[in-house]
Amino acid sequence: MASRHTRFRLFYRIGFTPWEGHAIGQGLRDLIEGTADSPALPTGSALDVGCGTGDSAIYLAQHGWKVTGVDYVAKPLEKARAKAGAAGASVNFARADVTQLSQEGIGSGFDLIVDNGCIHNMSGTDREAYVREVSAVAAPDARLYIVAFPPGGRFGVPGIDHAEMERRFAPGWTLLSTGDERELDDKTPTYYYLFQRRP
Ligand SMILES: C[S@@+](CC[C@H](N)C(=O)[O-])C[C@H]1O[C@@H](n2cnc3c(N)ncnc32)[C@H](O)[C@@H]1O
Repeated sequence: MASRHTRFRLFYRIGFTPWEGHAIGQGLRDLIEGTADSPALPTGSALDVGCGTGDSAIYLAQHGWKVTGVDYVAKPLEKARAKAGAAGASVNFARADVTQLSQEGIGSGFDLIVDNGCIHNMSGTDREAYVREVSAVAAPDARLYIVAFPPGGRFGVPGIDHAEMERRFAPGWTLLSTGDERELDDKTPTYYYLFQRRP
C-alpha cells in the first residue's frame, strides 16, 4: 500500500486538496432527501470510499445514515473526525484501502456506497479490485453513487468514461441513472453514476 498512496499522502501533506469543502452534489442530495418525483432512499448503513476529510460521510450521518468513511491516507481522517465532532455527526472513520475492503474489517452489507473522486484516480488494475471489493461489502440491492471526471477533464486525473463505467460494473450492478454533476466543479465536466446491486 505504501507506494500506491504516496501521491495522495503528499497532496495532504503540502495542503494541495482542491476537492476539500466542495458542495454535496445535487444527484446525491436528490437520492438522500428525495425529489417531487422520487422519495428519499430509506436510511441504512452507508460507506464513503476515499472519504478524504469526510464531507459526504458527515452529510449522510446528518441525514440519519449509519456511516463508515474510509481513506488510505491517515491525515485527512484526523480532520474528518474533527469536522464530524464539530458538526455533532457520528461517523466511523477508518484507514482502509478500497482495493482490499473485504480484508479491512470495516464490515459488509452496506446499503449505500458513495464515491466522490476515488475511482477516477485509479489505475486499471486498482479499478478491477475496486469493483470486486465494493461488490463484496454491498448489501444485495445496495445503491452505489459515484462522482467522477472523464478522461482529459482535469490535469493529473486519469478520469473514467461512461463506457468504462458501464463495462466495469455491468456484471453485478444495474446503472439506474447518470448525468451532469457540474456544480461540484464548474471548471471540469463531472458526471454522477447511480448503480443498484443485482442480488
Ligand atoms: C479527490 S479526493 C476526494 C476526497 C473526498 N471524497 C471528497 O469528496 O472530498 C480522493 C480521495 O480518495 C482517497 N483514495 C484514493 N485511492 C484510495 C484507495 N485505494 N483506498 C482508499 N482511499 C483512496 C485519497 O486518499 C483521497 O482522499
